[in-house]
Amino acid sequence: MTLRLRLGVNIDHVATVRNARGGLYPDPVRAAQEALAAGADGITAHLREDRRHISDADIAGLSELLNRQERPLNLEMAVTQEMLAIALHHRPHAVCLVPEKREERTTEGGLDVVGGHNWITPFVGQLNEAGCRVSLFIGPDPEQIHAAQRTGAAVVELHTGAFCDAVREGRVEDAQAELSALRDGATLAARLGLEVHAGHGIDYETVGDVAAIPEIAELNIGHFLIGEAIFVGLGPAIRRMRDLMDAAREPDA
Ligand code: PXP
Repeated sequence: MTLRLRLGVNIDHVATVRNARGGLYPDPVRAAQEALAAGADGITAHLREDRRHISDADIAGLSELLNRQERPLNLEMAVTQEMLAIALHHRPHAVCLVPEKREERTTEGGLDVVGGHNWITPFVGQLNEAGCRVSLFIGPDPEQIHAAQRTGAAVVELHTGAFCDAVREGRVEDAQAELSALRDGATLAARLGLEVHAGHGIDYETVGDVAAIPEIAELNIGHFLIGEAIFVGLGPAIRRMRDLMDAAREPDA
């Protein structure tokens, strides 16, 4: 039986546009509401240490909305005490631990769970105890996947950025190699009992190959959908992404 593939819509860049002017418009909570109405299964938001897009007030507003609608909030955050305290306060359905560098434009690579095992494991333990479903954002490297499992996290999110970049830049062989690494990584993670998610850089062109990997249970997609929303609206952009995901999962349906 094929798993139903969930779509988490990352609304960070609604906050980026709002913050370009200050003030309250456009409101990421309203975007989350529209995304859910258009078929998103859940909402993802990254509270960065420098608060460059999503703010603490956004997380409070999103928590309230998603609790009310009984839908999952996936809080992406760095592995820091400050973020841990915020997560333990809101207790979102899911927490995705990501690496964070202040100078980067976006989350450039996966977490080094092998090197950071002793430091990451207690965070996972506290979040697990609080009832959050913890995922670790990692590259599809077998050592990282084994290390992720040893932390006690229930989920790994595989970083699709290298695959998506290779496709966009027309590096066909690299794209094939990155895709097979994602496939092998998903198989290994599922064999180890981990739930598998994937995300970063996914657009209409790349979603099909990723969605076709049968072990993947959830995709988290942000930047491209918010960009498309400028041209077609958020609802139509999400519905088209959903259709492409479904077509990849059940090509004969
Ligand atoms: N998953 C994780 C863990 C991320 O850090 C991001 C970017 O914030 C995404 C998914 C979404 O990536 P994009 O905005 O490129 O679709």
